[in-house]
Amino acid sequence: MPGLPLIIDCDPGVDDAVALLLALAAPEALDVLAITTVAGNVGGALTARNACLVRELAGRPEVPVFAGLDRPLVRAPVAADHFHGESGLGDLPVRAPARGPETAGAVDHLVQTLRSRPAGDVTLAVTGPMTNLAAAMREAPDIVARIRQVVAMGGARREGGNITASAEYNIHADPHAAEIVARSGVDLVLLGLDVTHQVTATPPRRARLKGLDSPQARAVGQLLAFSARTEAEIGLGGPPPMHDPCVVLWLLAPDLFRLRPCHLAIETESPLTLGHTAVEFRLSAGRPQTALWGVEADADGAFDQVCDLLGRYG
Ligand code: RIB
Ligand code: CA
Repeated sequence: MPGLPLIIDCDPGVDDAVALLLALAAPEALDVLAITTVAGNVGGALTARNACLVRELAGRPEVPVFAGLDRPLVRAPVAADHFHGESGLGDLPVRAPARGPETAGAVDHLVQTLRSRPAGDVTLAVTGPMTNLAAAMREAPDIVARIRQVVAMGGARREGGNITASAEYNIHADPHAAEIVARSGVDLVLLGLDVTHQVTATPPRRARLKGLDSPQARAVGQLLAFSARTEAEIGLGGPPPMHDPCVVLWLLAPDLFRLRPCHLAIETESPLTLGHTAVEFRLSAGRPQTALWGVEADADGAFDQVCDLLGRYG
C-alpha cells in the first residue's frame, strides 16, 4: 500500500534537513511527492540548494524540489542563519547539487498538484514560514478544500518565543502568511515550541546515533552537534530541540504526541509581539476550533523513532 501522499514545504535549515532525512527514509509510509522550499532560515536560493543536497544524501534524487518565494508576504525578511550557519546546513560540507530545483515555482506546483490529485489526498508538512502555502491559498482559494491536512511546526503558547520574547521563528518570519492559513479553515495541526522543547537531542540521545553506521546518520549527528553548540552559545542553553523532525514524527507516530483543539489567532500588527500565536482552548461559538495544538510529546519514544528511521539507511 503506497504511503501518505505528502509535500514537504521547508527552509533547510539544520532541523529541516533532519526532518527531510527522516521523511525520505520511510517511503512505504510517506509518499513524498515533492519538496518545496521557502526563504527563511537562510535565503531562498540556499534553502532550495540545501533541499537538493539533502535529497541526494537520502538517496532519493527522484523527489523533485521546487523553489518558492524569496521573501515574506508583507514584512521584511528575517533570517535565522545565526542558528543554522551561513550555508543553512551547519558545518556540513556543501556544494552545487548534481540536480537543482525544477524550473516551475513552488506556489504554482502546490496549486497544480492539489488541483490534479483527488480532493483530500495530499497532506502538507510545513517546517518553515508559511509563505508558499498562504500565497497558494490566496492565488487559488479552491485548493483549501482539496488539502487533506496541514501539519506545521510553529508558534508557542506556554514556552514563550524563541526569536522574540513572544514569538516563535516560523510564525514571526511571516505572520501574515500564518494568519491566512489559520483563518483558511484547513485541517491544521500545529506543533509549536510547547512540544518541540520536550523533544530535545540530549547527549545520551545523540550518542545513540553514533551506533548507526551510515552517511545519513553521521550527517544527522553532525547537524545536531552543530545545533547543540549554537544553542549553548546563543540559544536557551539546553540540548537542541528537534523542532521540524516533530512534524515527520507526528505523521508517522501520532500517538507520541497529545494535541488539544484550539482557536488560533496570529498577531500581525504589534512590533513588540509580531507573530505571537494566541492559542485559546476555551472554544465557543465566537471562538470555534481552527487548529489542533501540540501540548505533550513522548521524547524517548520520539527518539526511538528517529533511530529506527535513520537505521533504515544502513
Ligand atoms: O522555531 C523553530 C523553527 O524555526 C524551525 O523550523 C527552524 O528550522 C526554524 O526555521
Ligand atoms: Ca524550519
